[in-house]
Amino acid sequence: MDLLDKVESWTSQFEEGGRDVLAKALNWETYDQFSQTGLYPYFQALDENQGPVAIYEGKEVVMLGSNNYLGLTTHPKVREASQDAIKKYGTGMTGSRFLNGTMKIHEELEAKLADFLDKDAALVFTTGYQANLGMLTALINSHAVAVVDRFAHASIHDGCRLMEGENVKFNHNDPTDLERALSEISVDKGPLICVDGVYSMEGDVAPLPDYVKIAKKHGVRIAVDDAHGLGVLGPGGKGTCHHFGVQDDIDLIVGTFSKSLASTGGFVAGEQRVIDYIKHFGRPMIFSASLTPGCTAAASAALDILIAEPERAEQSRSCAAKMKKGLTELGYQTGDAEGAIVPVIIGDTMMTFMIWKELLDAGVYTNPVLFPAVKKGQEMLRTSYLATHNDDHLSRALEAFHQVGKNYDICK
Ligand SMILES: Cc1ncc(COP(=O)(O)O)c(C=O)c1O
Repeated sequence: MDLLDKVESWTSQFEEGGRDVLAKALNWETYDQFSQTGLYPYFQALDENQGPVAIYEGKEVVMLGSNNYLGLTTHPKVREASQDAIKKYGTGMTGSRFLNGTMKIHEELEAKLADFLDKDAALVFTTGYQANLGMLTALINSHAVAVVDRFAHASIHDGCRLMEGENVKFNHNDPTDLERALSEISVDKGPLICVDGVYSMEGDVAPLPDYVKIAKKHGVRIAVDDAHGLGVLGPGGKGTCHHFGVQDDIDLIVGTFSKSLASTGGFVAGEQRVIDYIKHFGRPMIFSASLTPGCTAAASAALDILIAEPERAEQSRSCAAKMKKGLTELGYQTGDAEGAIVPVIIGDTMMTFMIWKELLDAGVYTNPVLFPAVKKGQEMLRTSYLATHNDDHLSRALEAFHQVGKNYDICK
C-alpha cells in the first residue's frame, strides 16, 4: 500500500484486531511516514495567534483557518472579562452543573442567549459537542427518532450513537429526501429533524424554510445546530434561523462559544420546559464538569460586543464574499458558501496537501479537508474569514493563492 492509499484508508486502521488491543496503535506507521514527507498538516502548533494573523514557526501567516469569525478572542473587553472572572471565581468549576457547578454567571449567560435568539430559555454546556449530545440523549428515547442530514456535524452523529432511540439519515440539503425519511417513520414515533444551519466544511446553508414547511406538514419538531451561523448570518448576527425569518418555527437552536463567541462551551435554546427536561436527562451535562468561569465570562462579553456592534457580522461576511469572488476569478472552485466559510475545492488528496504546504510556505494558513469529512473528489482547503481581516490580509492571501495555483495549472 503506498502512502496515498494509507492516508485515504486512515479510518480503516481501526479494523485491525488481534489479542493485543494496543497492536493497532503500535503498528500504525502512516503518521510517521506521512510526517517524513513534510506534508503532514494536522496538529501543527502555532507560536501565537492574533486572530487575522498568526505566528507559525517564527513567521507571520495570514490566518484563514480559524472560526474566530468576529475576531473577538483577543478583544480587550473579552480578555478582561475572562481575567476578572478567574480572579473572582477561580479557574475551574470542579463539578457538574447538576451539583456544585452552576454559578449565577452561567444563568446570566443563559438568559442573555435566550433573549438574543428570541427563545424562552437556554442551557449552557461545557462544549458545543456536548450540547448536541445532551439534547439528543435527553430527547431521543426509544419512542423517538432523530432524522439527520448526512453532512450534519459529527457531534450530531455521535449523539445518535449515544442516545437510546433510532436515527435515520437523509441526503444533504435535500427536502425531498427528508420527506421520504419522515414518511418511513411509524406514526407512534416522535421525529426530531436535526440539521446544521451552516455546514462546517462546505459553508453551505440549510434550506430551513423548506424544512419548516415539511415539519409542519408532518407535525414534527426541528433542531438547528447553528455553530457557524451564529454571529455571522441574519440580522445582528443572530444566525441562520433569523436569516430566513423562521426562528419561531425552529424548536431548538444549538450553538457553540468556540467560534464567533471567542471562548469554549455551547448551548441549546428553546422552550423553557424543554430546556428544563434536557437539563435533567442530558447525560453530558450531568456527568461532566461545567463551563469554567473564565470561558463563561469570555463568551458573555463576546455576546455583549456582538449585540453592541452588529456590524461585525457583516464585516466577516463581506471579507468572505470578497475572497470568494477573488478566488473564483483566479480559477479556483469555491462551492455554494454564504457565510464566513469559503471552501477551495481541489478535488484530489495529494494535491490538497501539496497546495496546503505551498500556501503555508507563502504565508497563508488554511485547513486541508479530506474524505470522509467531505465526499471523495471534493477534497478541499477550508478557508474562513474574520471581521478583523483587512484588505492587506486578503490581498496577501489572494496573491499567494495566485502564485501557488500557477504551479498546478489552476491559475493563469
Ligand atoms: C456544526 C458544529 N457543531 C458543533 C461543534 C462542536 O462545537 P465545540 O467546538 O464547541 O465542541 C462544531 C465544532 O466544530 C461544529 O462545527
